[in-house]
Amino acid sequence: MNWDRTYHITTFGCQMNEHDSETIAGMLSEMGFTESLERDRADVVIINTCSVRENADKRFFGTLGQLKHLKKENPDFTVCVCGCMMQQQHIIDSIKTKYPWVDIIFGTHNIHQFPQLLSSVLTEKEKIVNVWEDGGEIVEGLPAKRLYKHKSFVNIMYGCNNFCTYCIVPYTRGRERSRKPEDILDEVKRLVADGVREVTLLGQNVNSYQGDGQTDFADLIYRLNEVEGLERIRFMTSHPKDLSDKLIQAYVDCGKLCDYIHLPVQSGSSRVLKRMNRRYTRESYLQLIQKLKKAVPGITISTDIIVGFPGETEEDFQETLDLVRQVEYDSAFTFLYSIRKGTPAEKYEDQIPENVKHQRFNRLVELVNSISAKKNAAYVGKIEKVLVEGPSKTSSQTYTGRTEGFKLINFPAGPELTGKLVDVEVTEGKTFSLEGRIAKL
Ligand code: SAH
Ligand code: SF4
Ligand code: F3S
Repeated sequence: MNWDRTYHITTFGCQMNEHDSETIAGMLSEMGFTESLERDRADVVIINTCSVRENADKRFFGTLGQLKHLKKENPDFTVCVCGCMMQQQHIIDSIKTKYPWVDIIFGTHNIHQFPQLLSSVLTEKEKIVNVWEDGGEIVEGLPAKRLYKHKSFVNIMYGCNNFCTYCIVPYTRGRERSRKPEDILDEVKRLVADGVREVTLLGQNVNSYQGDGQTDFADLIYRLNEVEGLERIRFMTSHPKDLSDKLIQAYVDCGKLCDYIHLPVQSGSSRVLKRMNRRYTRESYLQLIQKLKKAVPGITISTDIIVGFPGETEEDFQETLDLVRQVEYDSAFTFLYSIRKGTPAEKYEDQIPENVKHQRFNRLVELVNSISAKKNAAYVGKIEKVLVEGPSKTSSQTYTGRTEGFKLINFPAGPELTGKLVDVEVTEGKTFSLEGRIAKL
């Protein structure tokens, strides 16, 4: 059946969710739906949720509250919710009691079933809750409507086995499952044929990729490096506990692997890292950074840091500040520790008072930003290869793109450069971005 209707997707959370939303959009296009840019005017609204911190949960319920009057005015307006929050029974229970007008609840493991669920809701006018507890076989060949024409996410694995004590993800995304290298290579080749120049390989911990028992993550990079027409390879996220020498060597050998790594540290204190179950120490992390900087001169490094994990003392926090100073991150995502229901750290009794958390958070952000600004300022005068993404949100004459080191850069250009790799001279370094001009050749 070809549904002549419109849809709108709201996505919270990480790249996994963004990519899942691209898949949902692809399936809806195949069903004959078209995208509506305004949520309130769409026939079908999908909210893809994240549960990583309490804020994300709150934003979801806020959004759902806003949709209530639309549902009242138009009973045909269809509301679907999915993503990581739905993998938790207490969330489903509260949707059922407080928002009983929600039409479809599905989870992270059965996205491929969405067209079927939606069709039956639209024809039968019933409500459906269909959430799988864990992922089964990986479903290949789902369509995707890409956010960008020239770059694409490619899932290489799903789930997480690490059970960091603060984190909900292993409960919402299930155990690790890797796609076969051939399936990944085929997908990348198809994407390249369709205009993609850059791929970002996605997984919660890409280092533990186990393709077919013979291909590990570094091998996969070597194989992708051979794909003709592909220009850039990135990946997210690698876990410090198993970042291998072989992967560091891949940076040296594979020209297409961008000299950039996102390597979440979470804390600079070995004592806190142990209670987080991260399975590396401050010292081993710093050693890794040294190795990376030595093997790949100029590599840009970003990280994630949690402030106010239970039991974090002022000394522990000082160690985090000190580590940030030593590594000199190009950028860092900083988070206030947020209690997650069902995780081990929820039960820890030495939770940190909110005012102490906020005070430490502000000190950390100040340090991180001053380092970012300093590092970006040092780029002035350098020529960077930039994949041009398109006009910026604020001006049609200003174009944006990313440098190899994943820095956002703005520069005057025209539409003919979109999708091209061009040389841009950096003219100014700001805290969160660079300014530049097309370099004269
Ligand atoms: N798999 C990735 C990260 C996934 S979640 C990794 O292991 O690095 C993204 C980030 O959210 C984490 O790196 C962590 O810094 C943060 N995070 C996860 N759970 C959190 C919590 N309960 N409170 C605050 N931040 C959290
Ligand atoms: Fe969460 Fe840790 Fe898994 Fe990352 S590695 S998703 S932080 S449990
Ligand atoms: Fe959020 Fe789920 Fe990603 S909890 S961070 S959307 S894996």
